[in-house]
Amino acid sequence: MENLILETNGGVTRVAINRPKALNALDRATLLELDRALEALDPKTRVLILTGSGEKAFVAGADIASMAKLEPNEAAAFSRLGHRIGDRLAGLDAITIAEVNGFALGGGCELMLACDFAIAADHAKLGQPEVALGVTAGFGGTTRLVRRVGLARALQLLATGARISAAEALAMGLVNEVVPQAELRARVDAIAAAIVANAPLAVAASKRAARLAAETDLGTANAHEQQVFGMCFATKDQKEGMAAFLEKRKAAWTGE
Ligand code: CAA
Repeated sequence: MENLILETNGGVTRVAINRPKALNALDRATLLELDRALEALDPKTRVLILTGSGEKAFVAGADIASMAKLEPNEAAAFSRLGHRIGDRLAGLDAITIAEVNGFALGGGCELMLACDFAIAADHAKLGQPEVALGVTAGFGGTTRLVRRVGLARALQLLATGARISAAEALAMGLVNEVVPQAELRARVDAIAAAIVANAPLAVAASKRAARLAAETDLGTANAHEQQVFGMCFATKDQKEGMAAFLEKRKAAWTGE
């Protein structure tokens, strides 16, 4: 991998976009590497952390130099590639966390939005500046952003192209937490460890149910939850989890 750094440790995979000279901007080659990395992700991965190399940027957007001369059909294909990655992230059983270590603009903000949630460093700046370049957002900015922060806030960001602070992003629910830059990695690692300590199938089923709830009507989502809850009782982890509680010991999950 030329533009990605992958590390796996105890069920946690950290993927860093590694083009620091271009503030980790996403060109086609980087997107293809990310797409392949997600497709080939170790199925034992329980948490996937996405971040950017260096201290300045998470991802400063899609790569403007490589987009400047695209024909309409090529641009649509580029958008489809970005969306394929977003869909892969959403479809993973692993919980995906964006570790926002700096600029998350345009395609970078959209990559963050495709993750299950985001933790940001206090110096991060976020936004959807595409309209200043004569284009719309292309990797889910007009879709996932609306679902994350609501139509009115999304449209303010999309139409002004404003770069907002991490504190403003926190206030509107775009990111879950803001921490000092020096503590970002440790905080994300601690959240990942808390997730890995829980029953694997139950975490994965919670993600699927919550994502369904965000995308469908309440009745359908509630019916799905009732089924999933019942199915948990066919797992060894349910027997182990409840026995461990009653016996006052730590559960030993098998993910079965
Ligand atoms: N694409 C290509 N290169 C980029 C880039 C991008 N999105 N963002 C930054 N870079 C490059 C710069 O061109 C510069 O390269 P050189 O050193 O070779 O000149 C290098 O990264 C460092 O950037 P700056 O010198 O500009 O750094 P700065 O600290 O002065 O500014 C910044 C930082 C505010 C993030 C500024 O770089 C910037 O505004 N970048 C573009 C942000 C943007 O518009 N993103 C949206 C792209 S469109 C999109 O993403 C479409 C979509 O939805 C799919």
